[in-house]
Amino acid sequence: MRVLVGGGTGFVGTALIQLLKARGHEVTLVSRQPRPGRITWDELARSGLPSCDVAVNLAGENILNPLRRWNEAFQKDVLSSRLETTQMLAKAITKAPQPPKAWILVTGVAYYRPSLTAEYDEDSPGGDFDFFSNLVTKWEAAARLPGDSTRQVVVRSGVVLGRGGGAIGHMILPFRLGLGGPIGSGNQFFPWIHIQDLAGILTHALEVNHVQGILNGVAPASTTTNAEFAQALGTALGRPAFIPLPATVVRAVFGRERAIMLLEGQKVVPRRTLATGYQYSFPELGAALKEIVA
Ligand SMILES: NC(=O)c1ccc[n+]([C@@H]2O[C@H](COP(=O)([O-])OP(=O)(O)OC[C@H]3O[C@@H](n4cnc5c(N)ncnc54)[C@H](OP(=O)(O)O)[C@@H]3O)[C@@H](O)[C@H]2O)c1
Repeated sequence: MRVLVGGGTGFVGTALIQLLKARGHEVTLVSRQPRPGRITWDELARSGLPSCDVAVNLAGENILNPLRRWNEAFQKDVLSSRLETTQMLAKAITKAPQPPKAWILVTGVAYYRPSLTAEYDEDSPGGDFDFFSNLVTKWEAAARLPGDSTRQVVVRSGVVLGRGGGAIGHMILPFRLGLGGPIGSGNQFFPWIHIQDLAGILTHALEVNHVQGILNGVAPASTTTNAEFAQALGTALGRPAFIPLPATVVRAVFGRERAIMLLEGQKVVPRRTLATGYQYSFPELGAALKEIVA
């Protein structure tokens, strides 16, 4: 299939494109940076959707960039980088003389209210209680197409674990030095997914005709807390991981509102994802981390 991927130059996109190519698909990227084999967002807006069978959007300003202060300008970038690119693709799909068969968006489990007791599947309510949950609601609304000539899939991803980027990229050095540990109390849930499984779910969603609607992009072992995650990462590295990162430090670096993403969490189950027949490569945290740090 010919697959168009917005924001495909990043952490998740690199893994997805590798898998798509290995499975014989042809990939075109939509990017801010013009390069051979890519189109820019301006070209998409000007010339419409290039001929493709599936469109995917992964574009978005990195929310947990510790070098950017959580102020109005950054919040605007976080929002507009997701809403505008998603709207642009949805509009181009609607206008295309031959619309693609499928349209897939990755959002996040921040849709669900952090809790120490609740368990969320794809039908659970959410999306209306803080900056990030509202962002997911607007983002998913921006993707909605009129009519049903194109199959629509939204994957609400947990924390993506993989080599050389994402959460592990930020954590690996202190953990390697034996200075890692839980964040805050460590009791908060830590909804995670191995990057190969997120790429796998996206590929499954684009290849299998009956997949549609919301899928939770988390591993099936949904009971991991942040403290258990820290312990498992320490074990995978053969290092102690007892030094907690205090909530006050996290709030000082990330700002109170953004720190919620690290200090609180949701217990999320991929009920619909499993029901579509997706088989996980890394359902268990220990094996996932071993592969990543090997
Ligand atoms: N990584 C995670 O743990 C995680 C968890 C849940 C959800 N997600 C979501 O999954 C998607 C992909 O995540 P990722 O980790 O692969 O992200 P990433 O590597 O930080 O960025 C993805 C791509 O987005 C584009 N981008 C960045 N800032 C942009 C801006 N201001 N305007 C337009 N495009 C911009 C860039 O492509 P160009 O430079 O080529 O334009 C970049 O390569 C994101 O929407 C993210 O919110 C990720």
